[in-house]
Amino acid sequence: MKPIEVQQLDESLAFGSRVTGVTSEALDDEGVRAKLKSLLDDRGVVVCNNVEQTSELQVKLSEVFGPLKEHPVYSVARADRDSLPGVIVITAGPGSCVVEIDGKPLVTWQPWHFDHAYNNEMMYAAVLRSIKISKDGGDTAFADGIQIYNDMDPAIREKAEGLNVLYNLDLRFGRQRFGLPKNFHLVKEHDSPLGDLSVNNENGRCSVHPAVWTCPTGEKVFHMCPYGCRGLEGDRSDEAFALLAEVWDEAERVMKVYTHKWEQGDMVVWDNTRVLHEATGSNPEQEREIHRTTIKGDFCHGKWEEEPESETAA
Ligand SMILES: [Fe+2]
Repeated sequence: MKPIEVQQLDESLAFGSRVTGVTSEALDDEGVRAKLKSLLDDRGVVVCNNVEQTSELQVKLSEVFGPLKEHPVYSVARADRDSLPGVIVITAGPGSCVVEIDGKPLVTWQPWHFDHAYNNEMMYAAVLRSIKISKDGGDTAFADGIQIYNDMDPAIREKAEGLNVLYNLDLRFGRQRFGLPKNFHLVKEHDSPLGDLSVNNENGRCSVHPAVWTCPTGEKVFHMCPYGCRGLEGDRSDEAFALLAEVWDEAERVMKVYTHKWEQGDMVVWDNTRVLHEATGSNPEQEREIHRTTIKGDFCHGKWEEEPESETAA
């Protein structure tokens, strides 16, 4: 059997690897599995090229990194709820939110975030594959929380330390208080507040996650996002949002981004406890469909907010 081959994704980035040679047979080899696992730990993002495009292989690759977990939101579409409950479907439909950035209409645009911020328990990682690739846009961008932390202005970084950030699943852009692009225009909001659909998120109850956490290697990770952010633990004031915006703007200023342009045969894995991601959005006239697995594991320090307060968001 040919060994897998590993390269850097981008010479100018301190994260991300590109791997070829991932096959079902290769994944049976304990050495290959250990190599992939340590690669994700070291590099945060692993792009696999020329992979057999089946759900079975996507699940097999995912299980290298940990057991799959059920997605916490039942209403999220599954590739096959009976036989592949761990594979969710991300696609645009008639009820899709439409935004405009630089005058260009986009569906499935999602600003920088980490998955399951709205839950007390994060997911460790996920494997994405593109079922229908949009010819115009539809990229997935990644940024490394370790790099962001290291490169932030120390004075602002100090403000980020110790912040406990609130999130819930109400992802309507009209409710997002900071972090939208200056040239952003909302054309059509999400049909319904997603917060109503979460099994763990009744009444808009918030999760709490630290803006900075320390990984087992001792490195610090910047790990917050504006998407679904509801303020700070115990503080939903305008001042809290001003502080969050200041911290976020600095993070966005320094982040070094890898933008994945999907090709047939790709599968992409990222460490969700370290790396932020963004869906750049795609042309509403074109079909785009992504399947994602959810890999169990929670290295962060999330919890539920103890005493929900009524929101005073503008
Ligand atoms: Fe996501």
